[in-house]
Amino acid sequence: MFLVFLGAPGAGKGTQAAIASRKLGLAHVASGDLFRQAVDKGTRLGKSVKAYMDKGALVPDEVTIQLISERLNEPDCRSGCVFDGFPRTTEQARALDRMVTSRGEAIDKAIYIEVTEKELLKRLSGRWICRKCQAPYHEVASPPKARNICDKCDGELYQRSDDTEETVRERLKVYFAQTTPVLDYYQAEGKLFAVDGNLGMEEVSDNIIDALGPKLVKTK
Ligand code: AP5
Ligand code: MG
Ligand code: ZN
Repeated sequence: MFLVFLGAPGAGKGTQAAIASRKLGLAHVASGDLFRQAVDKGTRLGKSVKAYMDKGALVPDEVTIQLISERLNEPDCRSGCVFDGFPRTTEQARALDRMVTSRGEAIDKAIYIEVTEKELLKRLSGRWICRKCQAPYHEVASPPKARNICDKCDGELYQRSDDTEETVRERLKVYFAQTTPVLDYYQAEGKLFAVDGNLGMEEVSDNIIDALGPKLVKTK
C-alpha cells in the first residue's frame, strides 16, 4: 500500500504518518526528515539543500525526486510506504506516479490533513523535535515525559531552525502557491480524502484509518 499525507506546515503530517505507518506496518518516508538528516551529517546533499530549507523554499524537484527514488528502492519499502511531505509539486506527484507504476503498483490514497492557519502557527511555535528519531512533540499538546528528552529513544529535543515566525510565514506562502495544486491532482484521480486536522491527535488518527477503509487496512 502506498499512501500520501498532505497538508500545510504544522498540519500534523509527521505525527499522523508515524502513527499510520506503525498501525499498518509500513515504512515512513519523510522528505523533510531525510533532508534534515543530510544537513546534520554535513553530506553533499545536506550542503546543497540547507539554503533552501533555511529560507522556507522548496528544494528543487530534481534533487527531491532523486532522493525519494533512492529511498523507495530500500527493502523496507517493498510492500509500500507512507509518504510525508512528498509530493509537494505536481511535477513531484507525476514523478511519484511513474515510480510506483513502474513497480506495478499505484498510490492508494492521499490523505489531506486540513488545519486552520491560526492553529498551524500555534503548533509550529510550540514544536520540539527529536534529533535522533525525528519524533515531534509539542510544549502543550504532547509534551515529552522528561524535559528536552525523547520518550521513544532518549534523544535530545530541539526546535527546528525553520520554525521561526518569519520562515514559517514563507513556508505557508510556498505551500499555498506550490503545493495546493497537488490536492487538485489527487482529487482529479479520485484519491483525495480530507480529514479535519484541528481535532486531537488520536481522533485524527482514527478518522484516517476509517478513511482507508477495511479493504486497504486488511491488506496488511
Ligand atoms: P517538512 O519537514 O516536510 O516540513 P513542513 O511541510 O513544513 O511540515 P512540518 O514538518 O513543519 O509539519 P507537519 O505537518 O509534519 O506537522 P507535525 O506532525 O510536526 O519540510 C521542511 C523543508 O524541507 C521544506 O520547507 C523544504 O525546504 C524541504 N522539503 C521537504 N520536502 C520537500 C519536497 N517534497 N520538495 C521540496 N522541498 C522539500 O506537527 C506540528 C506540531 O503540532 C507538533 O508539535 C505536534 O506535536 C503538534 N500536533 C500534531 N498534531 C496535533 C493535533 N492533532 N493536536 C495538537 N497538536 C498537534
Ligand atoms: Mg513534518
Ligand atoms: Zn527520539
